[in-house]
Amino acid sequence: MKFLVVGDVVGRPGLDRLKKDLKNIIDKEKIDFCIVNGENSANGKGLRVKEYNEILSYGADAITMGNHLYYRKEMSTEYGKLDRLLVPANITNIKGNGSILVEKNNVKFGVINLIGQAEMGEILKNNSTNPFLQVEIEINKLKEQGAEYIFLDFHAEATAEKIAMGLYLDGKINCVFGTHTHVQTADEVIYEGGLAYITDVGMVGPKLSVLGLKKEVALKRFVTGEYAKYECSTNEAIFNGIIVEIDETTKKATSIKRINM
Ligand SMILES: [Fe+2]
Ligand SMILES: [Fe+2]
Repeated sequence: MKFLVVGDVVGRPGLDRLKKDLKNIIDKEKIDFCIVNGENSANGKGLRVKEYNEILSYGADAITMGNHLYYRKEMSTEYGKLDRLLVPANITNIKGNGSILVEKNNVKFGVINLIGQAEMGEILKNNSTNPFLQVEIEINKLKEQGAEYIFLDFHAEATAEKIAMGLYLDGKINCVFGTHTHVQTADEVIYEGGLAYITDVGMVGPKLSVLGLKKEVALKRFVTGEYAKYECSTNEAIFNGIIVEIDETTKKATSIKRINM
Protein backbone atom coordinates (compact mmCIF):
# COMPACT_ATOMS: atom_id res chain seq x y z
CA MET A 1 0.00 0.00 0.00
CA LYS A 2 1.46 3.32 -1.05
CA PHE A 3 0.91 6.63 0.74
CA LEU A 4 1.77 10.18 -0.26
CA VAL A 5 2.07 12.78 2.48
CA VAL A 6 2.47 16.44 1.56
CA GLY A 7 3.78 19.17 3.88
CA ASP A 8 2.06 22.45 4.77
CA VAL A 9 0.59 24.04 1.64
CA VAL A 10 1.30 27.78 1.81
CA GLY A 11 -0.99 30.27 0.10
CA ARG A 12 -1.71 30.64 -3.60
CA PRO A 13 1.81 29.61 -4.68
CA GLY A 14 1.39 26.37 -2.71
CA LEU A 15 -2.08 25.67 -4.09
CA ASP A 16 -0.90 26.32 -7.65
CA ARG A 17 2.04 23.95 -7.22
CA LEU A 18 -0.29 21.33 -5.75
CA LYS A 19 -2.56 21.70 -8.76
CA LYS A 20 0.40 21.27 -11.09
CA ASP A 21 1.99 18.22 -9.43
CA LEU A 22 -0.21 16.31 -7.01
CA LYS A 23 -2.26 14.28 -9.49
CA ASN A 24 0.85 13.49 -11.57
CA ILE A 25 2.66 12.07 -8.54
CA ILE A 26 -0.44 10.11 -7.45
CA ASP A 27 -0.74 8.56 -10.94
CA LYS A 28 2.94 7.99 -11.59
CA GLU A 29 3.64 6.46 -8.17
CA LYS A 30 0.30 4.58 -8.00
CA ILE A 31 -0.58 6.18 -4.67
CA ASP A 32 -3.41 4.54 -2.71
CA PHE A 33 -3.95 7.30 -0.15
CA CYS A 34 -2.86 10.94 0.05
CA ILE A 35 -2.68 13.23 3.10
CA VAL A 36 -2.03 16.98 2.74
CA ASN A 37 -1.44 19.48 5.53
CA GLY A 38 -3.55 22.53 4.72
CA GLU A 39 -3.06 24.79 7.73
CA ASN A 40 -1.44 27.60 5.69
CA SER A 41 -3.42 27.27 2.48
CA ALA A 42 -5.61 30.36 2.97
CA ASN A 43 -3.07 33.03 2.06
CA GLY A 44 -0.57 31.57 4.54
CA LYS A 45 -2.92 31.59 7.52
CA GLY A 46 -5.45 28.84 8.14
CA LEU A 47 -7.85 27.15 5.76
CA ARG A 48 -11.37 27.99 4.60
CA VAL A 49 -14.01 25.78 2.99
CA LYS A 50 -12.77 27.14 -0.35
CA GLU A 51 -9.24 25.78 0.14
CA TYR A 52 -10.60 22.55 1.65
CA ASN A 53 -12.52 21.83 -1.55
CA GLU A 54 -9.64 22.95 -3.74
CA ILE A 55 -7.09 20.64 -2.06
CA LEU A 56 -9.48 17.68 -2.24
CA SER A 57 -10.07 18.37 -5.95
CA TYR A 58 -6.32 18.01 -6.60
CA GLY A 59 -6.32 14.47 -5.18
CA ALA A 60 -5.98 14.63 -1.39
CA ASP A 61 -7.97 12.07 0.59
CA ALA A 62 -7.49 13.77 3.96
CA ILE A 63 -6.40 17.25 5.05
CA THR A 64 -4.69 17.93 8.36
CA MET A 65 -4.31 21.19 10.28
CA GLY A 66 -2.16 22.77 12.97
CA ASN A 67 -1.78 25.90 15.07
CA HIS A 68 -3.19 28.16 12.32
CA LEU A 69 -6.65 26.70 12.91
CA TYR A 70 -7.56 29.70 15.08
CA TYR A 71 -6.87 32.29 12.40
CA ARG A 72 -10.06 31.91 10.33
CA LYS A 73 -12.64 32.68 13.02
CA GLU A 74 -15.59 31.75 10.78
CA MET A 75 -14.19 28.21 10.56
CA SER A 76 -14.54 27.38 14.25
CA THR A 77 -18.08 26.08 13.68
CA GLU A 78 -17.21 24.47 10.32
CA TYR A 79 -14.28 22.18 11.16
CA GLY A 80 -16.40 19.31 12.48
CA LYS A 81 -18.73 19.40 9.47
CA LEU A 82 -16.02 18.68 6.90
CA ASP A 83 -15.53 14.93 6.92
CA ARG A 84 -12.06 14.83 5.30
CA LEU A 85 -10.64 17.57 7.51
CA LEU A 86 -8.78 16.97 10.75
CA VAL A 87 -7.91 19.34 13.56
CA PRO A 88 -5.45 18.34 16.29
CA ALA A 89 -7.27 15.89 18.57
CA ASN A 90 -5.69 17.29 21.73
CA ILE A 91 -6.89 20.89 21.20
CA THR A 92 -9.57 21.54 23.80
CA ASN A 93 -11.25 24.77 22.64
CA ILE A 94 -12.05 23.94 19.00
CA LYS A 95 -14.41 21.20 17.95
CA GLY A 96 -13.45 19.09 14.96
CA ASN A 97 -12.31 15.64 13.86
CA GLY A 98 -9.16 14.67 15.75
CA SER A 99 -9.05 11.46 13.74
CA ILE A 100 -10.94 10.21 10.71
CA LEU A 101 -11.54 6.89 9.03
CA VAL A 102 -11.75 6.94 5.23
CA GLU A 103 -12.90 3.90 3.29
CA LYS A 104 -11.40 3.84 -0.18
CA ASN A 105 -11.26 0.88 -2.60
CA ASN A 106 -12.47 -1.37 0.25
CA VAL A 107 -9.56 -0.41 2.50
CA LYS A 108 -10.04 1.45 5.79
CA PHE A 109 -7.50 4.24 6.25
CA GLY A 110 -7.15 6.00 9.59
CA VAL A 111 -5.59 9.43 10.04
CA ILE A 112 -4.84 11.24 13.31
CA ASN A 113 -3.80 14.88 13.83
CA LEU A 114 -2.14 16.10 17.04
CA ILE A 115 -0.37 19.24 18.16
CA GLY A 116 2.83 19.39 20.19
CA GLN A 117 3.19 21.14 23.54
CA ALA A 118 6.88 22.08 23.47
CA GLU A 119 7.82 25.53 22.12
CA MET A 120 4.35 26.10 20.67
CA GLY A 121 3.48 29.12 22.81
CA GLU A 122 1.43 29.60 25.97
CA ILE A 123 -1.99 29.86 24.28
CA LEU A 124 -1.65 26.51 22.59
CA LYS A 125 -0.18 24.88 25.65
CA ASN A 126 -3.08 26.11 27.79
CA ASN A 127 -5.62 24.90 25.27
CA SER A 128 -4.29 21.43 24.57
CA THR A 129 -3.87 18.16 26.43
CA ASN A 130 -0.93 15.75 26.47
CA PRO A 131 -0.61 14.41 22.89
CA PHE A 132 0.97 11.15 24.11
CA LEU A 133 -2.16 10.34 26.11
CA GLN A 134 -4.62 11.61 23.52
CA VAL A 135 -3.07 9.55 20.75
CA GLU A 136 -3.95 6.30 22.56
CA ILE A 137 -7.61 7.34 22.62
CA GLU A 138 -7.59 8.13 18.89
CA ILE A 139 -5.79 4.89 17.97
CA ASN A 140 -8.32 2.83 19.95
CA LYS A 141 -11.19 4.69 18.32
CA LEU A 142 -9.82 4.00 14.82
CA LYS A 143 -9.01 0.36 15.54
CA GLU A 144 -12.52 -0.21 16.89
CA GLN A 145 -13.81 1.14 13.56
CA GLY A 146 -11.63 -1.37 11.72
CA ALA A 147 -8.78 0.87 10.54
CA GLU A 148 -6.23 -1.20 8.60
CA TYR A 149 -3.61 1.56 8.33
CA ILE A 150 -3.05 4.54 10.63
CA PHE A 151 -0.96 7.65 9.92
CA LEU A 152 -0.33 10.47 12.39
CA ASP A 153 0.41 14.10 11.51
CA PHE A 154 2.19 15.42 14.61
CA HIS A 155 2.19 19.18 14.15
CA ALA A 156 4.96 20.34 16.44
CA GLU A 157 8.02 22.56 16.76
CA ALA A 158 10.40 20.53 18.91
CA THR A 159 12.35 17.76 17.19
CA ALA A 160 12.67 15.86 20.48
CA GLU A 161 8.91 15.77 21.03
CA LYS A 162 8.36 14.49 17.48
CA ILE A 163 11.06 11.80 17.69
CA ALA A 164 9.69 10.67 21.05
CA MET A 165 6.22 10.31 19.49
CA GLY A 166 7.62 8.23 16.64
CA LEU A 167 9.37 5.85 19.02
CA TYR A 168 6.35 5.74 21.33
CA LEU A 169 4.06 4.58 18.52
CA ASP A 170 6.44 2.12 16.82
CA GLY A 171 4.60 -1.16 16.47
CA LYS A 172 1.23 0.51 17.15
CA ILE A 173 0.55 2.45 13.92
CA ASN A 174 2.16 2.71 10.46
CA CYS A 175 3.61 6.20 10.20
CA VAL A 176 4.33 9.30 12.26
CA PHE A 177 5.24 12.37 10.24
CA GLY A 178 5.93 15.85 11.54
CA THR A 179 4.67 19.11 10.10
CA HIS A 180 4.80 22.81 11.17
CA THR A 181 8.44 23.84 10.66
CA HIS A 182 8.05 24.03 6.85
CA VAL A 183 11.61 22.74 6.49
CA GLN A 184 12.04 19.15 5.37
CA THR A 185 14.31 17.06 7.58
CA ALA A 186 16.61 14.35 6.23
CA ASP A 187 16.03 11.87 9.07
CA GLU A 188 13.44 9.57 7.51
CA VAL A 189 13.68 6.12 9.06
CA ILE A 190 11.82 2.86 9.56
CA TYR A 191 11.90 1.76 13.18
CA GLU A 192 12.24 -1.84 14.43
CA GLY A 193 8.51 -2.31 14.81
CA GLY A 194 7.89 -1.20 11.22
CA LEU A 195 6.81 2.42 11.77
CA ALA A 196 7.91 4.94 9.14
CA TYR A 197 9.03 8.24 10.66
CA ILE A 198 10.21 11.70 9.59
CA THR A 199 10.58 14.76 11.83
CA ASP A 200 9.22 17.19 9.25
CA VAL A 201 7.77 16.66 5.80
CA GLY A 202 8.47 20.30 4.78
CA MET A 203 6.13 22.54 2.80
CA VAL A 204 4.58 23.23 -0.56
CA GLY A 205 5.26 26.91 -0.41
CA PRO A 206 7.11 29.86 -1.92
CA LYS A 207 10.85 29.56 -2.38
CA LEU A 208 13.13 32.38 -1.19
CA SER A 209 10.62 33.17 1.53
CA VAL A 210 10.90 32.70 5.31
CA LEU A 211 8.69 29.61 5.75
CA GLY A 212 6.23 31.19 3.29
CA LEU A 213 6.36 34.68 4.75
CA LYS A 214 7.51 37.39 2.31
CA LYS A 215 11.25 37.90 2.75
CA GLU A 216 11.00 41.70 3.22
CA VAL A 217 8.43 41.34 6.01
CA ALA A 218 10.47 38.72 7.84
CA LEU A 219 13.64 40.79 7.57
CA LYS A 220 11.88 43.90 8.87
CA ARG A 221 10.68 41.94 11.88
CA PHE A 222 14.08 40.40 12.62
CA VAL A 223 16.32 43.37 11.83
CA THR A 224 14.29 46.22 13.36
CA GLY A 225 12.32 44.21 15.92
CA GLU A 226 9.23 46.11 14.77
CA TYR A 227 5.83 44.65 14.00
CA ALA A 228 5.22 44.00 10.32
CA LYS A 229 1.95 42.58 9.02
CA TYR A 230 2.02 39.05 7.62
CA GLU A 231 2.28 38.87 3.85
CA CYS A 232 2.48 35.58 2.04
CA SER A 233 5.28 35.47 -0.51
CA THR A 234 4.15 35.27 -4.13
CA ASN A 235 7.24 33.36 -5.29
CA GLU A 236 6.80 30.07 -7.11
CA ALA A 237 6.52 27.16 -4.67
CA ILE A 238 8.78 24.23 -3.87
CA PHE A 239 7.14 20.83 -3.32
CA ASN A 240 7.96 18.74 -0.25
CA GLY A 241 6.45 15.42 0.68
CA ILE A 242 7.12 11.77 1.44
CA ILE A 243 6.08 8.48 -0.12
CA VAL A 244 5.64 5.61 2.33
CA GLU A 245 5.12 1.97 1.36
CA ILE A 246 3.50 -0.44 3.78
CA ASP A 247 3.52 -4.21 3.30
CA GLU A 248 -0.09 -5.36 3.05
CA THR A 249 0.53 -8.62 4.93
CA THR A 250 2.85 -7.60 7.76
CA LYS A 251 1.54 -4.01 7.87
CA LYS A 252 5.15 -2.87 8.36
CA ALA A 253 6.72 -0.04 6.37
CA THR A 254 9.10 -1.19 3.67
CA SER A 255 10.23 2.24 2.45
CA ILE A 256 10.01 5.95 3.16
CA LYS A 257 11.23 8.29 0.47
CA ARG A 258 11.45 12.09 0.51
CA ILE A 259 10.20 14.32 -2.29
CA ASN A 260 11.95 17.69 -2.56
CA MET A 261 11.26 19.46 -5.83
FE1 LIG B 1 2.44 25.42 8.77
FE1 LIG C 1 2.01 25.29 12.13
